[in-house]
Amino acid sequence: MEISNQEFALLKDKAQQALTKAYAPYSKFRVGAAILTDAGNIFTGCNIENSSYGLTICAERAAVACAIAHEGGDKMKLRAIVIVTDPERPCSPCGACRQVLSEFGWEAMVFFQGKDRKITKLTVAELLPEAFEFTI
Ligand code: THU
Repeated sequence: MEISNQEFALLKDKAQQALTKAYAPYSKFRVGAAILTDAGNIFTGCNIENSSYGLTICAERAAVACAIAHEGGDKMKLRAIVIVTDPERPCSPCGACRQVLSEFGWEAMVFFQGKDRKITKLTVAELLPEAFEFTI
């Protein structure tokens, strides 16, 4: 479902605040994410790097973890997520984050700076068609 301009502005503001908390001494690329859940709550996350680079956590997954810690994994549903960076650069969610987002909001709207430097808005389904789903 679409979100209003007002909701977008609030999410962007919260993502900007989260970005200031990033731990990114290696890449110097700060990322902030703000999630709006179906329940109407906003949760944020920032990237957390590690000297063992592969252990880095992206802002999007940190925000999902925060939302689940508050609303519960069986209840939390994503409505929208806004991603911002410092320096301001194109930053679409990485493949791992797309898969994680798909678990909690197939129809959720994802806002990020696209390669054309404009705000890009796509659903999770558009970002990751044929996402893996575990079925027995
Ligand atoms: N990063 C994110 O937080 N989200 C993304 O979608 C892409 C990359 C972070 C991980 C790392 O700390 C830095 O950006 C550079 O890759």
